[in-house]
Amino acid sequence: MADLTGKTIIVTGAGSGIGKAAATLAAAAGATVIAADVKGAEETAKEIGGSAEGHVLDVTDSQGWKYLVDDVIARHGRIHGLANVAGIVSDVDALLTQTEEGWQRILDIDLKGAFLGMKSVAQHLIDNGGGKIVNVASTAGVIGMPNVVAYSAAKGGVIAMSRQVAIEYAATGLRVNVIAPGVTQTNMLGDITDELLTAVKAATPTGEVAAAEDQANAIVFLLGPGSDRITGQVLPIDGGWTAQ
Ligand SMILES: NC(=O)c1ccc[n+]([C@@H]2O[C@H](COP(=O)([O-])OP(=O)(O)OC[C@H]3O[C@@H](n4cnc5c(N)ncnc54)[C@H](O)[C@@H]3O)[C@@H](O)[C@H]2O)c1
Repeated sequence: MADLTGKTIIVTGAGSGIGKAAATLAAAAGATVIAADVKGAEETAKEIGGSAEGHVLDVTDSQGWKYLVDDVIARHGRIHGLANVAGIVSDVDALLTQTEEGWQRILDIDLKGAFLGMKSVAQHLIDNGGGKIVNVASTAGVIGMPNVVAYSAAKGGVIAMSRQVAIEYAATGLRVNVIAPGVTQTNMLGDITDELLTAVKAATPTGEVAAAEDQANAIVFLLGPGSDRITGQVLPIDGGWTAQ
């Protein structure tokens, strides 16, 4: 496992699913974890224990980001990494049925949220010789998938934006990488039926659906020293789905 001893790491979406698993694993790797979410972050921090902190943050709120980042720097001196995990999906947004409001909400949380997170910490990381940012996209940002027009746009945007930021600031020591999860067993799947899960497994080369911990492992690796020479890359964790 990556060694994050002495590192202060912000994880958004830490109230549930992949963000919660990433916060838990980062803490186990030695990090002081700042768990942030609109809901559930304090509970996650309590479950982790030790130096973990829970904070209420709406990732679409630039003032909220400024408050959190200034507060963490004031109390801990340094931020070393950020995992932008918070996100939402809508299950009925094919082009012909997608509302403009729904489009905007998904773009705000899934794309602008990651933009604001990166913008809020990047100068501090650069001023301190660099740091690690991990953004969470989706296979829907890599290949075409049904019923997710806004989500696909947002996650494709996360990938393109991350590559751009990665090369712009590579010489400063900043590293920006992306994971692209396939179907992963979290609350995001809602009340997915057994039939649909079986169909997903059948369509996945490994025959399995990922767990939140599978995604968290990759996030923690990319937050750690193992990614010192990796930037602007997209790692699909999808049981080979996008390799087909
Ligand atoms: N589960 C999957 O199958 C899957 C597949 C591909 C990508 N992803 C991505 O993984 C990430 C995590 O999803 P998950 O599966 O853990 O889902 P989840 O629903 O379990 O967790 C998402 C978390 O994001 C938080 N969140 C939502 N809006 C927020 C906001 N405005 N500000 C702060 N926090 C907010 C929620 O409160 C929740 O705790 C998302 O970006 C999602 O798009 C998930």
